[in-house]
Amino acid sequence: MKFFIDTANLNDIREANDLGILDGVTTNPSLMAKEGITGAENILQHYVDICNIVDGDVSAEVNSVDFEGMIKEGVALAALHKNIVVKIPMILEGIKAIKYLSGKGIRTNCTLIFSSGQALLAAKAGATYVSPFIGRLDDISTNGLDLIAQIRLIFDNYAYNTEILAASVRHPMHIINCAEIGADVMTGPLSAIKALAKHPLTDLGLQQFLADFAAGNK
Ligand code: E4P
Repeated sequence: MKFFIDTANLNDIREANDLGILDGVTTNPSLMAKEGITGAENILQHYVDICNIVDGDVSAEVNSVDFEGMIKEGVALAALHKNIVVKIPMILEGIKAIKYLSGKGIRTNCTLIFSSGQALLAAKAGATYVSPFIGRLDDISTNGLDLIAQIRLIFDNYAYNTEILAASVRHPMHIINCAEIGADVMTGPLSAIKALAKHPLTDLGLQQFLADFAAGNK
C-alpha cells in the first residue's frame, strides 16, 4: 500500500519524507488555508515547494466547479510539475473534466467520494485515483471502511486501473484496516503514520536491551 501524507505543512511533509516511506502528498483548499497559504500565485508556488520535497504524486485541487474552469485550472496545475495529480470534486461537471483531462494524459484524483456509485463513475471517466473519505463517513455513524471494501470489489470485478486512495484517515487503525481490505493508497496525517511504529512492548524491550548492554559494558 502506498503512503501519502494529507497536509500542506512543509515540516510534516519533510519529516514523513525523511522516514523514507512516503509515496506522495494530498492537499485540499482547507489544508492550504490552515497553513496560511492564500492567493493563486502562493498556492501554485506551494505545490512546487511540495514537489521539490517529495518524489511522488502530489494532488493539487481545482477550485472551479464548472467544466471549463476545472480543465483550465487542471491544465495549469499539471504544467507545474510532472508529479502533480489534478484533484477534481465528485460532481457531474467534474466527471466530464476527469474524462477530458485523462484523454489529454493528465492524471486525476476524484475527491469527495462517499459512495461506491460515485467511485464507479469516476473510474469509468478514467480517474487515476478515487478518494473515499472514510473518517467523514465514520463521523456520521457510517462505516467508512465498508465503502473501501465495496469499491475494492467493484474495481476488481472489472479490472479498473483506477487506484483506491483511502482519504480522511484519522488514526493508525484506519491505515491497518485499509491495508487489510486492499486499498491501493492511504492518505493521512503525520500523527497516524508515526503511531504505526508505537508499541509499549517495543519500548520496554529496547529499554531492557540498552540497560543490559550498559551493565555488561561498564
Ligand atoms: C483527501 O484528500 C482530503 O484532503 C482529506 O483526506 C480529508 O480529510 P479530513 O476529513 O480529515 O478533512
